[in-house]
Amino acid sequence: MNLEEDHLALIREPRMLVVEGLTCRFGAKAAVDNASFSISRGGFVGVIGRSGAGKSTLLRTINRLVAPAEGRVRFEGTDVTALRGKELRQWRARAAMIFQQFNLVGRLDVLTNVLMGRLAAMPAWRSLTQVWPESDRALAMSALEQFDMASFAAQRADQLSGGQQQRVAIARALVQQPDLILADEPIASLDPRNTKIVMDALLRINKHFGITVICNLHSLDLARSCCDRLIGMAAGRVVFDGAPSMLTDQIARELYDLEAAEVIGGTVAPAPEVAAIPALGTAAAA
Ligand SMILES: Nc1ncnc2c1ncn2[C@@H]1O[C@H](COP(=O)(O)OP(=O)(O)OP(=O)(O)O)[C@@H](O)[C@H]1O
Ligand SMILES: [Mg+2]
Repeated sequence: MNLEEDHLALIREPRMLVVEGLTCRFGAKAAVDNASFSISRGGFVGVIGRSGAGKSTLLRTINRLVAPAEGRVRFEGTDVTALRGKELRQWRARAAMIFQQFNLVGRLDVLTNVLMGRLAAMPAWRSLTQVWPESDRALAMSALEQFDMASFAAQRADQLSGGQQQRVAIARALVQQPDLILADEPIASLDPRNTKIVMDALLRINKHFGITVICNLHSLDLARSCCDRLIGMAAGRVVFDGAPSMLTDQIARELYDLEAAEVIGGTVAPAPEVAAIPALGTAAAA
């Protein structure tokens, strides 16, 4: 199995994900308000905006963890908002989520946590046997190797540091063989060193495997340095959509309102280097 070839072959396809007039309400309040944009395959898109702007709700609505009140999400022509049952489960696997708090099963070992990413691809009878196919185990080990986590395979997930746990969560997302990774503040609980390691892992997924990443980020500096496109949200609305170079300090100030001085005051961190790495599926076989 070679994830890399599958994804790189599809990279040229334009407008993979189309969000049209998407609105999501909690009571009377619109957490996402008439949001429209489209994303081409292979991009690394940052979603920015102050706390409560609707960033998490937007990602959760795309993944269908939250149902929209109005509007549509289309993926390669399929209306994702209308999916039910098995097709909805398949969509959730294709749009893999990565969370701030990692969402691993702490009492299970690292390898089993990564294998959980294969559940959606497994027939129900097989998951009942609780025996993972050897090909899945090899894929999971290979994914761990991508992020220098193979030596932790047998260790309980709750014995790892936050940065290590997030790398396991990214490996789990990778073995889902997703078309899209939706990362909701993946570095919000991490120190600067682990922030770099985890952003580096997401950049590898994007640049090496060609998987589209949409990533909510609090830090504007990080968003500017890592993303090739930014979507700015305020009060549920999309108020900016463009290249990081188009986001002037004036627009950032408006986007973040009074928080602007803090947000744009720091130095811009250089983008983490994307190292050459072996294709997933080859390393574990060695
Ligand atoms: N489950 C929920 N029930 C009720 N209101 C909610 C729910 N989830 C989000 N909201 C509200 O919707 C709005 C948008 O929240 P959301 O979590 O999407 O913002 P965010 O941009 O991700 O913020 P943060 O940067 O703090 O994570 C907020 O006003 C929030 O209080
Ligand atoms: Mg959020």
